[in-house]
Amino acid sequence: MKYKALKGVQDLIPPEIELWQHIEDVSKAVFKVYGYKELRVPIIESTDIFLRSIGETTDIVEKEMYTFPDKAGRSITLRPEGTAPVVRAFIEHNLFNLNPPQKFYYHGPMFRYERPQAGRFRQFYQIGVEAFGIDDPKLDAEIICMLRHTLEEMGLTGLEFELNSIGCSNCRPKYRESLKEFLSGRLVRLCPDCQRRFELNPLRIMDCKVTGCIELRQGAPRVIDFLCEDCRNHFDKLKDYLQLLNVSFAVNPDLVRGLDYYTKTTFEVTTTSLGAQKAVAAGGRYDRLVEEFGGPPTPAIGFAIGAERIASLLKDNYVYQSSGPVIFFATLGGEASATALKIADSLRTKGLYIEVGYDVMSLKSQMKRADRLGALYTVILGEDELKSGKAILRDMQTKKQSDIPIDAIEENFLNRIVA
Ligand code: HAM
Repeated sequence: MKYKALKGVQDLIPPEIELWQHIEDVSKAVFKVYGYKELRVPIIESTDIFLRSIGETTDIVEKEMYTFPDKAGRSITLRPEGTAPVVRAFIEHNLFNLNPPQKFYYHGPMFRYERPQAGRFRQFYQIGVEAFGIDDPKLDAEIICMLRHTLEEMGLTGLEFELNSIGCSNCRPKYRESLKEFLSGRLVRLCPDCQRRFELNPLRIMDCKVTGCIELRQGAPRVIDFLCEDCRNHFDKLKDYLQLLNVSFAVNPDLVRGLDYYTKTTFEVTTTSLGAQKAVAAGGRYDRLVEEFGGPPTPAIGFAIGAERIASLLKDNYVYQSSGPVIFFATLGGEASATALKIADSLRTKGLYIEVGYDVMSLKSQMKRADRLGALYTVILGEDELKSGKAILRDMQTKKQSDIPIDAIEENFLNRIVA
């Protein structure tokens, strides 16, 4: 074949697409009962917004963004994630004027130029939520609970919730110094990226995936031990709320996340059934980002679910729902074909799924198609039936056939559906 999809991207085709629709439909239904409204942001954004938010020394910004100049020479980036665009939109449309918390969800493709492997794509789909305006750990608990509710409703089991607090601008400087002191003697042995990050953003070293760096940071001070009183209280209350809500979680002091905008709460949901790419969803608080983007001081929290990873966990046990047509009209001859087409058209406008055979198909192949599509009934209509005014109605499950007056087909099926 001449053309193929690019490396690291995939087509979603029927029937598998149904599983994706299931994932999206379930999320929307659950988000709705927690009061989240959809917000759609563009796929392309000005590159700056990602540099400022995700952080210039992160892997995403340094290595993974699809960035290109547009025809006017502006630097454009295909969004690698949804939080920064949502924050941009939140400020641009003065959504902070609404009563807090302002709660939004989004879903759609994200782009990261990563090395493709199982569970890691260059175009992947996220379903995310962002809630603005409330600095209460109850909201953190609620959002984590909503994530659990969503994933369970999708059909996932055996999930692990990991939780951490990475502090705020009050507690970070002390932690930063302590971390630098610990790492200074090991600096030359860190990877070149981490050596650069040492001065610019030493916290990023705690997220480096290079084996040597992972070993070198063994025993490093942990941000959770440096929390200020406010962050400590926030974290303690969050844990109490989660216990109250029966969410089992493990505190993971190494959970620093790969994006710079987080403050206080961070969390990740993992599964043991996915190999290396085990995070199915992740998120956290980002209380400074709205202000850094030029908006009023606004605490915020959110998460994003990775749809590919969910689909791969669900695919073996998913029962495809796609139902066949209510009626398949198998016809022989021009007049019968026209009569069937007219009835089919009318029933379709009433919302019934109807298929018709085409004149190029023999009656036998039309019947085969009706079977393959999983039609509930086949209506067989030829010249004899037109003459007698009665078509043959075949129940595709019992294979029983009976006569049905042609001019009663429509009413008969509409009544069946209503009944
Ligand atoms: P993230 O951890 O970068 O966070 O991504 C969230 C989820 O997206 C991951 O847990 C994973 O399931 C999925 N994911 C990430 N990269 C890939 C990939 N290359 N292929 C397949 N799936 C992937 C964020 O993006 C934050 N914006 C989440 C957030 C929202 N934080 C606050 N609000």
